[in-house]
Amino acid sequence: MPRLFFLLSGEHDTLPFAELKAALESEDLSYEEIQTLPQILRLNTFSEAVEVIKGRAALTRVCCRELFICQATLPEIIRGIQKVSLNKVIDYGESFVVRVRRVGEAARELAGMYLERKLGELIIDKIDGVSVNLKQPQKTFFGVITGTAFVFGLKLAEVSPTPFMLRRPRKRPFFHPSSMPAKLARCMVNLARPKKGDLLLDPFCGTGSFLIEAGLLGCRIVGIDAKRKMVKGSSHNLIYFNIDYEGLVVADANHLPLTKTDCIVTDPPYGRSASTMGRTTREIVQDFLATSARTLTKGSRICIASPKSINLTKIAKTRGFKHVQSHFVYVHRSLTREIVVLEK
Ligand SMILES: C[S@@+](CC[C@H](N)C(=O)[O-])C[C@H]1O[C@@H](n2cnc3c(N)ncnc32)[C@H](O)[C@@H]1O
Repeated sequence: MPRLFFLLSGEHDTLPFAELKAALESEDLSYEEIQTLPQILRLNTFSEAVEVIKGRAALTRVCCRELFICQATLPEIIRGIQKVSLNKVIDYGESFVVRVRRVGEAARELAGMYLERKLGELIIDKIDGVSVNLKQPQKTFFGVITGTAFVFGLKLAEVSPTPFMLRRPRKRPFFHPSSMPAKLARCMVNLARPKKGDLLLDPFCGTGSFLIEAGLLGCRIVGIDAKRKMVKGSSHNLIYFNIDYEGLVVADANHLPLTKTDCIVTDPPYGRSASTMGRTTREIVQDFLATSARTLTKGSRICIASPKSINLTKIAKTRGFKHVQSHFVYVHRSLTREIVVLEK
């Protein structure tokens, strides 16, 4: 298995790492975790992983084949590039560019632009017949200064944030302030690890954010909401993005009108922008977990967001779920969301 490294989004500390690993697991791609560094995950995995991450992940930026890693000092970096074999990486006659990114304030004394030029010169000295092309290079070498390390490789793919921007809540025909941002919605879908063709349920579907992201991954989707207006709105949004759905139903999530699902991704109401219809979020979640347990098979997952204050993990354990992971997302002073992954 080749050694790959991934530059991850800095939007959250833990979610990008968890999303990337879950995306690989959804497609049954095994991996060996080598190391995590700020915004960097180093793995031994199959090269198919790159296409999987490019097609699924919301919180990965760049995928690279790793060539070397060293201390983030100029002499160590020069030693690294001089030692590494580039014969199978770039061919005679090919053009290239070197790009360097810095994570946060890492090794500020190393100037990124100087490093790009220096590495470019060293590569030209080392390999016959290659040239630099800043605009349309055939190969891109990519280095990241992170913590006290410098990791360097050949760029294999970049994950564009543009499609997520085009699907953000305000860009959809039906908007509601309770809508989940597209990137977080995709990340949560990935954490539930659905495969193409799996049936994914959102029993509090609102404007359909999870259904849109799951539908784009090729899942069969079913959405439920207690409010007709939301169900209609979800339908408009799904049609707008050309996504087929198996069902959109006006119903109570505590009386699910279906007997089997492969996974559930959801965000129940907190009684702020989305109504809890006279109940507390805790009561809704308690009842919903008891009901949903009957529709899931052993090993299948729920990814659910809720206010941190309700301690969903404790409730889930009393309902017989295994707690897999939690991530905390600060929204504003009085709301921190807990994104919880549970397994039946
Ligand atoms: C936080 S919003 C979901 C937002 C959604 N994830 C999105 O991105 O648009 C919660 C939704 O749950 C619905 N709801 C409230 N109580 C419900 C119940 N008992 N059964 C089903 N839906 C319910 C509300 O109408 C609301 O649309």
